[in-house]
Amino acid sequence: MTPDLFADLPIEMTTETLSEGAVVLRQFAFPQGRDLLGEIRRITATAHLRHMKTPGGHSMSVAMSCCGSWGWVTDARGYRYQAEDPCSGALWPAMPSVFSALAKSAALTAGYPDFTPDACLINCYEPGAKMGLHQDKNERDLSQPIVSVSLGLPQVFQFGGLTRSERPLNIPLGHGDVVVWGGPSRLRYHGVLTLKAGTHPLTGACRYNLTFRCAR
Ligand code: SIN
Ligand code: FE2
Repeated sequence: MTPDLFADLPIEMTTETLSEGAVVLRQFAFPQGRDLLGEIRRITATAHLRHMKTPGGHSMSVAMSCCGSWGWVTDARGYRYQAEDPCSGALWPAMPSVFSALAKSAALTAGYPDFTPDACLINCYEPGAKMGLHQDKNERDLSQPIVSVSLGLPQVFQFGGLTRSERPLNIPLGHGDVVVWGGPSRLRYHGVLTLKAGTHPLTGACRYNLTFRCAR
């Protein structure tokens, strides 16, 4: 039997408000952590993690994949959602029920009862990887929130305002933390600072982030 590395750690689920419509649900996904990581490994065995290129031609430092009916892609043609993985031409893998159930229950807890995501982006950050401040605005229905799940190594999440110039809050996120933003906060700028080197018992030297969206 493998010893459970977390067996003696108490889980403390708490809610922190960031702004109107935006919360951090601390450790909300902790119970599902191992299952989520197992599904990430299964999905990325066919829809490989890859460093996509921005429309400007820069390779992103985060490695990405997707599951669900729609996947987010970027290349020389721009940012968009599409049903096929451009690497293989196949449809993106289906969204596992452990993903959709967790995303729905996090959204409900944050005050969004009608959330049914049709897209999930899988981000994998290795030490040195980051994501600059940006808005999530390629989704059709902006009345639905974004649900973002952190797994593995800690990374500082930046949560800013509705303009790029507003100074962001710096929020350390750990394994199992979930951030939900919607309503008047749906178009707030956000990103993550450079991942510091470390080792997590479940993910090794990386951090995964799942973001759930209603894309189309
Ligand atoms: C994102 O904005 O798509 C990812 C944010 C994160 O990795 O926490
Ligand atoms: Fe984002």
